Amino acid sequence: MKIEPTLCAGIQAELPHLRPLAQQLAAQLQIPFIEANQKLTANAIYLQYHTDGLHIVSTNAKSKSLSFHIDFSDGLYLRRLQTSDKNQGLAKAVGFKPHYLPRVLDATAGFARDSFTLASLGCRVTMLERSPVLAALLSEAMERGSYDHNVADTLERMQVQCTEAMKYLTQLTPEQAPDVIYLDPMFPERKKKAQVKKEMQILHQLLGSDDHTPYPLQLAINTAKNRVVVKRPKQAEDLNNMEPSFRVTGKASRYDIYLADSD
Ligand SMILES: C[S@@+](CC[C@H](N)C(=O)[O-])C[C@H]1O[C@@H](n2cnc3c(N)ncnc32)[C@H](O)[C@@H]1O
Repeated sequence: MKIEPTLCAGIQAELPHLRPLAQQLAAQLQIPFIEANQKLTANAIYLQYHTDGLHIVSTNAKSKSLSFHIDFSDGLYLRRLQTSDKNQGLAKAVGFKPHYLPRVLDATAGFARDSFTLASLGCRVTMLERSPVLAALLSEAMERGSYDHNVADTLERMQVQCTEAMKYLTQLTPEQAPDVIYLDPMFPERKKKAQVKKEMQILHQLLGSDDHTPYPLQLAINTAKNRVVVKRPKQAEDLNNMEPSFRVTGKASRYDIYLADSD
């Protein structure tokens, strides 16, 4: 089933002292500021400022809500600081070696899990995110995480820009070109009805199923100094029907590697 994107309905503050922050972000994102006593409507996406940071909330037909916030100090991210098989696949795909730390452009940042993994290996990562709502969640989470000594070093190697990847890539000079460009398109719709994690449900509701969007793969290959890495579900067709130079295959997903012409 194709899911249409949902416009962010606005932002609320959980407590009165968070109102100025919420109002500032409402102005920045040009979305309404919603009073705390206003009931969330059905099938909507909202932002909410809580004492523990900025949350994204999605409501269903009965106005029951699901909420998620990016927390780099949380187990979901901290696990990525440790070496696991999952991390090794990504490390191998980008060509990481202890003496070679590629500069990575993550052109589809999302919740920045992959960027965080790459930065924890020591790579400098520039993240691009075209959704202003997601970019705001990322910026706020990075600011908050910078006060946690467990992750501050890793976050220091990451920066986020709210922009469309195609636009960004066309403006890069050859000197600014990253070693690796990483693309993780939205997963194609699942054929079987399977339970999807809450943050992916929210992401799908916010962005819709954008798997038919043409991804700037050829432009990325022409731009990267070393390679382009595309994350795909294990059984999915090649992105833009372009066959990669080689693949690194994991349990549920695979990385398709396109070596740059100069490589
Ligand atoms: C599947 S999510 C990426 C998940 C991410 N790898 C992670 O670890 O959390 C894809 C994200 O890329 C963003 N995106 C898709 N196409 C883009 C483009 N052309 N430019 C910038 N961002 C894009 C979407 O808004 C979405 O947030």
